[in-house]
Amino acid sequence: MSDAVLDVRGLRTRFGPEKGGLVAVDGVSFMLRRGRTTALVGESGSGKSATAQSIMGLIDPPGRVTGGQVLYRGQDLLTLDEAAMREIRGARIGMVFQDPLTSLNPALSIGSQIAETITAHEDVSHAEAQRRAVQLLEHVGVADAARRAADYPHHFSGGMRQRALIAAAIACRPEIIIADEPTTALDVTVQAKILRLLHDLQQEMGASLLLITHDLGVVAAMADEVAVMYAGRVVEQADVDTLFHRPGHPYTRALLSCVMDIGDGRDTPLNPIAGAPPDLRTPPPGCRFAPRCPMAEAACLSWQPQDIAVSATHTVACRRVAEVLQDG
Ligand SMILES: Nc1ncnc2c1ncn2[C@@H]1O[C@H](COP(=O)(O)OP(=O)(O)OP(=O)(O)O)[C@@H](O)[C@H]1O
Ligand code: SF4
Ligand SMILES: [Mg+2]
Repeated sequence: MSDAVLDVRGLRTRFGPEKGGLVAVDGVSFMLRRGRTTALVGESGSGKSATAQSIMGLIDPPGRVTGGQVLYRGQDLLTLDEAAMREIRGARIGMVFQDPLTSLNPALSIGSQIAETITAHEDVSHAEAQRRAVQLLEHVGVADAARRAADYPHHFSGGMRQRALIAAAIACRPEIIIADEPTTALDVTVQAKILRLLHDLQQEMGASLLLITHDLGVVAAMADEVAVMYAGRVVEQADVDTLFHRPGHPYTRALLSCVMDIGDGRDTPLNPIAGAPPDLRTPPPGCRFAPRCPMAEAACLSWQPQDIAVSATHTVACRRVAEVLQDG
């Protein structure tokens, strides 16, 4: 569609040796629309981070992307060399990761790190970049920014470090922001503030956000579209209302029934789904959710999963989707 800013098609990524390795991302497709937020959700190990890293060209050997396309402005990012990718990373596509401490250089002041992002991509003086770094810190809510720019990461609290990282991510006004569990390491009260900040900045810049999370409360609050991942594959995609009100995949239903808002703003697991995701070294044949699926039949074990279109904006990779939806 014309408003797609990022169009990921059939992405496939493997880790480890040819024999004994695993396919962490197995034919993943989704789209990020202009000015909108797509959430990528799923349990730990489902391949969310590997998907983001594959998009950004950040899979370290012996891991590698073995297939698919990542179309950005009509260009397949997977075909670019490292120099061209570096131009895009940090400038056209900003990134925010879970743990700001490991993403920041402990030996460099916060202001200098943001300034470095700017000078890496724009032809401006160091002094100008420093000045902009202070402005950016102010913009993301760091009080007394001129003074705090000279501080080192360990002087900052977790929430402030995440603000600094967001300042670096938006420094070159990217078209896309990829945020991988941006608030998981933070206190609940700080989480809400950081999400609000991300949301406000995105609106202000008209940027598109790819938000990776396992928190369905965050999805409900932030996302326009949602892709649910299970064992390296997208099992359901829909706009956020449809996903919450008319989920078509038994796994999505199980995820939704697992959480209940107990009133403190946190989603608390109520009925964790019985069993565990498959070992990706030896994935089960057919539908990968079959070992845990309450609706599994013998035919599911030999079914080659495919996206079944329920509507123009809703796809489900379950051969029994019609019955699931009939269930109400
Ligand atoms: N560098 C690596 N080498 C080998 N295997 C890896 C590597 N990185 C990830 N994996 C494996 O790939 C699979 C997907 O991992 P990934 O980190 O993408 O999951 P995730 O959905 O981001 O999980 P989480 O919610 O815990 O962050 C997992 O089985 C993981 O063990
Ligand atoms: S294909 Fe079968 S096992 Fe897989 S989710 Fe659907 S009903 Fe369950
Ligand atoms: Mg992850």
